[in-house]
Amino acid sequence: MINSASSLVGVRFVGSGSAVPDRVLTNHDLAQMVDTTDEWIASRTGIRERHIADGDADSVANLAAQAGQKAIAAAGLSPEDIDLIILSTSTSDDLFGTAGRVQKILGAERAVAFDLVAACSGFVFGMVTASQYIRTGLYRNVLLIGADVLSRWVDWQDRRTCILFGDGAGALVLQASNDPVTDNLLGFEMRSDGKGNDLLNINYSGRSTFEPISMNGQEVYRFAVRRVPEVIEKSLNIANLTVSDVDWLILHQANQRIIDAVVNRFGIDPAKAVSNMGKYGNTSAASIPIALDEWVQAGKIESNHIVAIAGFGAGLSWGSAVFRWG
Ligand code: UT7
Repeated sequence: MINSASSLVGVRFVGSGSAVPDRVLTNHDLAQMVDTTDEWIASRTGIRERHIADGDADSVANLAAQAGQKAIAAAGLSPEDIDLIILSTSTSDDLFGTAGRVQKILGAERAVAFDLVAACSGFVFGMVTASQYIRTGLYRNVLLIGADVLSRWVDWQDRRTCILFGDGAGALVLQASNDPVTDNLLGFEMRSDGKGNDLLNINYSGRSTFEPISMNGQEVYRFAVRRVPEVIEKSLNIANLTVSDVDWLILHQANQRIIDAVVNRFGIDPAKAVSNMGKYGNTSAASIPIALDEWVQAGKIESNHIVAIAGFGAGLSWGSAVFRWG
């Protein structure tokens, strides 16, 4: 398994972008819709507001393409330079896949494009997938996008779930390194446990329809707090690093209490743990790349910083990657 910096072609991380719908739904708005309060949502989750898709303009394809366009520009590339587009999403506009639509909007005519479904682990799994194509020498420029519009699949009368999710997209350009010894993907680990599959679902219900999101919140919470530190440790080991080497820890933005638990477990400075769920809620596969892009845009994540990411969610699936920015 090639999961450390040992291959001939290295991977670099050269540009990020993100996009969210304009429409904002606050906790106070939600308190008008279901029996909840801003205080309950903020104290249990850290979420204060989220962006919600408004019709076709905020389709997965459009949000993904906007984020992708920014990432391509930030990388100093044009769409024709992209060899592969991987769209990590669980809320496709089309069950046959949305990546083709993204390719069309971007005008990335040379690219091959496909969807990857791994729920809230989709961005981490997508990063590993993208890097394999680069390390084998097949592709030079890969656009990885995490995009989800879970608001389409929420039961807006279910206060246990409707308060959690928001919509958006985040993107990253991964590029083959011209210098064979530079491989900035330092380590990763991916895991699945299908025995927990029934804890978080959007199930097919027959007659071309799906049921709304159902989640056993407490069990998923316990799973996350137990499993996320393990995979971060594993990918740090592979990278020959320790938590003290990490400049930024970006967890899937599901619950501030999960981030706090992982920070406590590792004893790291809370300021290194990126958190923006207060503004966006849980955007599933988009949450890590939106946070990454926000911290890059703010100049906080700089060239050569060590970033550890971890995703977790339905499947059950979870995974981590450690990389050097730039
Ligand atoms: O993205 C994929 C990964 N997903 C996650 O990581 C989510 C992990 N789970 C969580 O983040 C938390 O479990 C939740 C935020 C979903 C729920 O927090 P909790 O502390 O586990 O609450 P709970 O489900 O144990 O509910 C506690 C109480 C219940 O009332 P009773 O039975 O104690 O009377 C709920 O009915 O809070 C009630 N409750 C609410 N009250 C006000 C549930 N939702 C709400 C609400 N407003 N929105």
